Amino acid sequence: MTAIAPDMVSLTPHTFPGALEIRGLSKNYSLKGQRLAVLDGIDLKVAPGEFVSVVGPSGCGKSTLLRLILGLDNDYQGQILLDGQPVLGTSLDRGIVFQDHRLFPWMTVSQNIALALKNHRLSPQAKQQRVDEHIAKVNLQGFADAYPHQLSGGMAQRAAIARALINTPKVLLLDEPLGALDALTRVYLQQELQRIWAQQRCTVIMVTHDIEEALYLGDRVIVMQAHPGKIRREITVGLPHPRDPLSPHLHELKVQLRSELLGEHHA
Ligand SMILES: Nc1ncnc2c1ncn2[C@@H]1O[C@H](COP(=O)(O)OP(=O)(O)OP(=O)(O)O)[C@@H](O)[C@H]1O
Ligand SMILES: [Mg+2]
Repeated sequence: MTAIAPDMVSLTPHTFPGALEIRGLSKNYSLKGQRLAVLDGIDLKVAPGEFVSVVGPSGCGKSTLLRLILGLDNDYQGQILLDGQPVLGTSLDRGIVFQDHRLFPWMTVSQNIALALKNHRLSPQAKQQRVDEHIAKVNLQGFADAYPHQLSGGMAQRAAIARALINTPKVLLLDEPLGALDALTRVYLQQELQRIWAQQRCTVIMVTHDIEEALYLGDRVIVMQAHPGKIRREITVGLPHPRDPLSPHLHELKVQLRSELLGEHHA
């Protein structure tokens, strides 16, 4: 096993763990003068280093929930606490990856990832070393100088994951990060995500529409319902990582979760 490089320790903007606690979280939007209740009374505790998947019908407030945890919007009721401290605005201790990679097209992979380090007081050499380490972490060696249009969708998502991880966030938020990929690339990147998470062990909250993905990666799966967005129930997967995607237990849970979600649609 390789030891943690000294540079990595000095760069870490915080000490782990990364316990997230959401208490009585409600969020309303105003649409044409009408109040739209998007989230209603969300209570959720996520342990440091836990991987939580969130599934639920379109419009139930999954992305809104991630936006609030990220600190992009402070207009809500309730509390969001990270290691006991209220979340106020964005911070390096929370990173996010979206369905679309959102890399700047005029910058190379290396430059895109390095941009996330711009507020660090590190020498250019130390920054470059850090960037190179993260390019290797997501298996993009050889593509550091490629531009986003020269990458496949899966490679671009890997670059986006490296960019989100480079500040060693306490919490990594994933909003359908593999949603735009073909089935094979998706399965491959699910394994990659599991491998990276096992190394970095940050707290992860991943929104997905893919039930198998939610169960394969999540320690727990939170099932939401819509109008207003609430937690309907949660499923504890209870299998160690790395997992066998063909495990009978995962299959059983998949059948259960599928009927749960279809029940929601037909309600
Ligand atoms: N800026 C906004 N102003 C008004 N309403 C909004 C705004 N952003 C989101 N909403 C509404 O909030 C609700 C939840 O949206 P959100 O994007 O969180 O859903 P979601 O669960 O992520 O859906 P999907 O699975 O389709 O991504 C929707 O009804 C949406 O119309
Ligand atoms: Mg969404």
